[in-house]
Amino acid sequence: MRLRSVLWSIAFFAGLQSIAGAQSTDFDRRIDHALQFGVSQLRKSVTVVSDPLLLPIAVQQGSPWKTAGMYDWRSGFFPGVLWYAWEHDRSDDLKAAAERWTEGLEPVKDYTGNHDVGFMIFCSYGNAYRLIKKDSYPAVILQAAKSLATRYNPQVGLIQSWNAGSRWKFPVIVDNMMNLELMFWASKNGGGKELYDIAVTHARNTAKNHIRPDGSTFHVVDYDPESGAIRAKNTHQGYADDSCWSRGQAWGLYGYAMTYRETKLPEFLQTACRLADYFIAHLPADNVPFWDFQAPGGSSEPRDSSAGAVAASGLLELSTLVTDKAASAKYRKAALDILSSLSTPPYLAEGTTSPAILLHATGSKPHNADVDVSLIYGDYYFMEALLRYKRGM
Ligand code: GLY
Repeated sequence: MRLRSVLWSIAFFAGLQSIAGAQSTDFDRRIDHALQFGVSQLRKSVTVVSDPLLLPIAVQQGSPWKTAGMYDWRSGFFPGVLWYAWEHDRSDDLKAAAERWTEGLEPVKDYTGNHDVGFMIFCSYGNAYRLIKKDSYPAVILQAAKSLATRYNPQVGLIQSWNAGSRWKFPVIVDNMMNLELMFWASKNGGGKELYDIAVTHARNTAKNHIRPDGSTFHVVDYDPESGAIRAKNTHQGYADDSCWSRGQAWGLYGYAMTYRETKLPEFLQTACRLADYFIAHLPADNVPFWDFQAPGGSSEPRDSSAGAVAASGLLELSTLVTDKAASAKYRKAALDILSSLSTPPYLAEGTTSPAILLHATGSKPHNADVDVSLIYGDYYFMEALLRYKRGM
């Protein structure tokens, strides 16, 4: 009798393991397929766009890529996603293309016109140096960090996102958390401690002023540049000043997870978790967020697959940083649920006329700009998240 029950237990647990194995194999196949599809789309885009001074940024089904010049905030994502494609595929044509589009951005290292030099240079040159260690690249990244540091105001304790205009004097947007990775890298690679201190102070003040008690984020906080006092809390790309723009929330959760990775200061891990918890709690059934979590039109509102991709990548990293097992499992599951949706119709562009990888992203709904299209940063963070998963994150 005892032997029979032992044999039953062995059979039962073996069965459970094979079910889990089958599920993970299905999921793994889906991830591999999405990566392969991404590589083939990018290879085609390289041929069609061909000029490395044109940077693909957005596209509608049936149309060619809309491209921008090097000083557009999105310029680094095409070279960056080419590096991810090469990281997966390792073929010479992709490497050559990634190098050409990266090196076309070299003058951007001196750009001080807004905070986006972090996105522009770290997604391109940062990945390039991580992967091929070319001697000339660190100087470009270091100079870009110095350019970004010119926008830091010690009186306010923040890096100014956009220049002063008729509405705002010293606007800081939550997106700016993403640009800190450039500062951390530069500080560790010869740029000095000041860059680290700027990044930490910026992250601390953003946590203090951009985050609401429920863990959602304001998009824009405007400051008085002389006194450092807060002038206003608004939105630019969200539905309302007091709503939560989903991509802003994704930038924040990713940015704080990265800031904790770089600093190991527990306050930033706690902040990343608060933002992640809010993001996860407000996802719809298919796990791809609407463009704003409070957008009033229910299921008729456009999705933002780019917010999903940014969040999935950030959540995968967060799942490796938290020590609590239940929290880690929660963040990993949320990331994989998002990736599972993005890797299949209606989000994967496979079988459509789009040259991009993902469909159904939203650039700025209030400005009616790039609504329900493909966005290059959605593709970039999607490929990054797929690779993070493959790396075991
Ligand atoms: N950082 C600008 C955007 O997310 O649209």
